[in-house]
Amino acid sequence: KKSIRDIDVKGKRVFTRVDFNVPLEDGKITDDTRIRAALPTIKHLVDGGAKVILASHMGRPKGEKNPEFSLAPVVARLSELLGKDIKLVEEAYGPVAEEAVSKLEEGEVIVLENVRFYPGETKNDPELAEGFAKLADIFVNDAFGAAHRAHASTEGIAHHVETAVAGLLIEKELQVLGKALSNPDRPFTAIIGGSKVADKIGVIDHLLDIVDTLIIGGGLSYTFLKAQGYEVGTSLLEVDKIEQAKEFMKKAEDKGVKFLMPVDCIITKEFGEETYVGPRDIDSIPADHMSLDIGPKTVEIYAEAIKNSKLVVWNGPMGVFELDKYANGTKGVAQALADSDAYSIIGGGDSAAAAEKFGLADKMSHISTGGGASLEFMEGKALPGVEALNDK
Ligand code: 3PG
Repeated sequence: KKSIRDIDVKGKRVFTRVDFNVPLEDGKITDDTRIRAALPTIKHLVDGGAKVILASHMGRPKGEKNPEFSLAPVVARLSELLGKDIKLVEEAYGPVAEEAVSKLEEGEVIVLENVRFYPGETKNDPELAEGFAKLADIFVNDAFGAAHRAHASTEGIAHHVETAVAGLLIEKELQVLGKALSNPDRPFTAIIGGSKVADKIGVIDHLLDIVDTLIIGGGLSYTFLKAQGYEVGTSLLEVDKIEQAKEFMKKAEDKGVKFLMPVDCIITKEFGEETYVGPRDIDSIPADHMSLDIGPKTVEIYAEAIKNSKLVVWNGPMGVFELDKYANGTKGVAQALADSDAYSIIGGGDSAAAAEKFGLADKMSHISTGGGASLEFMEGKALPGVEALNDK
């Protein structure tokens, strides 16, 4: 795909879709990673003399103009980061937006209000896509986090402009994730955690074709353990996925992929820290107890596998890391990644949040800005927001 490096933007109106969907608490941004990740593209366009029109979604306002989902806090932060006052335009298309765009000088930046304030956005309504396209000469997609969505501002607009190219963030994400899957350094280890097998079927299936070692942890591991014949007490269990788990273990065997599962875990009578019991071997979970984390022996085995890898992809926590008593598994894996010489790729979402929480984010080689997007990419799926761009 073409990127902004391949085109001249001087004097051009550039509709730039970014992913400014950052976490907010009481109207305050708690993590500005995604805003900072968009800066290289914004600066490239500014330096190139473009008229920069930034567009993004924020949350899921369901097509309504709900001020709770305004991009105002983002614009304030962006102004700080760029060291200049950036204007927020109240509408994302139509006369108000057109008027604001017509006043833009070369190198100037404006931000359009939340594109999901219009029901046509998530429906990929061609009329809305055309409305966005009318504002611009060029479409740049740099919203990697939303690239798996075929929405009006991520996909539809590309069909209504002549030039539709990738920004520097999308370019980098595709390069890093693409190389890992198509030409990986070996040994290549994938760590898959998270709560549900159902959410990870596609990615486990695809990675089993590529990796040398697959490590399983988190809530989804109990379905795999059950499939192996262990009793998992009241731990999370997807009965309807036990067969699937068996198939995956068979596939791993057929492909010669080393398949690592927990050998011990952290049990509790009920969900929460009050009823915490402690580590137990995996064959000793009482019928009325549940596990909420991998145990210390497991962490040691996983850390050793990570240490012996050249490339590691991690998606999904090993336990309920939001609660301190069940955070050690996830923390141990994050620490092993931080200490290893392996190139470490952290899928966005929960694993990125965990790396951040343990203060280890800086030690990772690449933290993806996409949760759902990086997961779909690792499933081997095409991303609509990328597919719609101009080819080289
Ligand atoms: C994300 O946070 O994963 C992206 O911004 C996409 O958001 P969505 O899941 O609401 O489409």
